[in-house]
Amino acid sequence: MSNPLFDLDTLKAELAGHNPRAILSAALDYFNNNLAVSFSGAEDVAVVHLASRLKPGINVFCLDTGRLHPETYRFIEQVREQFDINLEILSPSWQELENLVRSKGLFSFYKDGHSECCGVRKVSPLRRKLSTVGAWVTGQRRDQNPTRSVLDEVELDTVFSTPEKSLYKFNPMAQWTSAQVWDYIEAYELPYNELHSKGFISIGCEPCTRSVLPNQHERAGRWWWEDVTKKECGLHVGNVHHEK
Ligand code: ADX
Ligand code: SF4
Repeated sequence: MSNPLFDLDTLKAELAGHNPRAILSAALDYFNNNLAVSFSGAEDVAVVHLASRLKPGINVFCLDTGRLHPETYRFIEQVREQFDINLEILSPSWQELENLVRSKGLFSFYKDGHSECCGVRKVSPLRRKLSTVGAWVTGQRRDQNPTRSVLDEVELDTVFSTPEKSLYKFNPMAQWTSAQVWDYIEAYELPYNELHSKGFISIGCEPCTRSVLPNQHERAGRWWWEDVTKKECGLHVGNVHHEK
């Protein structure tokens, strides 16, 4: 799976420690329209904003699990209206979803872990989307979770690459802290998800996200019944292999 566009190790070294704008610019230089930005409806609005300024009309997608908070749906639509982006909302396969709910009900994740439900509601639609592009962009940061502490600015996506196609993943916010992201949101007067005003930091699906107490880690509000090292849902499960 060698890449004619660039040597990954060289690009990794070039982008290490660079600012989000420089990383996104490089991603666009190499992939242009063959790239899509993922947006969860949380503080990764900063990435979407930056991307829309670098390339008006850029392709952005949200995985609509069907279980997001009403506040998140409203926020996603606000971003669609205010930003110059081409926003796509992806739904799970109805066959896979009906099979899951028929056999296990609507809250199976509290009993046997979140991977099966995330598999149907997030990973499968993501795989479908990623089969159409050469690279994707995420809002992941090293400070979000122990599983992300060694995140690179650009990586080969080992989860979604296929024997026929190498898929690349750009993480322009990798080295930024939560405080820097929020400074950016404030400086540009960006809209943000109302849940952030209600004690939520990291935001995912409604049944699997809760607000956190002062000084609790942001991921404490995600899948709180599971071990911290398992808090990747399949979108970024490649991160788990990085752990020591
Ligand atoms: S998760 O894997 O634990 O759910 P997290 O909420 O930290 O991920 O978000 C990290 C990045 O994954 C986001 O910035 C975004 O790039 C991508 N992402 C997460 N959830 C979604 C979603 N529902 N739709 C699109 N992208 C998402
Ligand atoms: Fe299902 Fe929870 Fe994963 Fe959402 S976060 S897809 S509700 S297990």
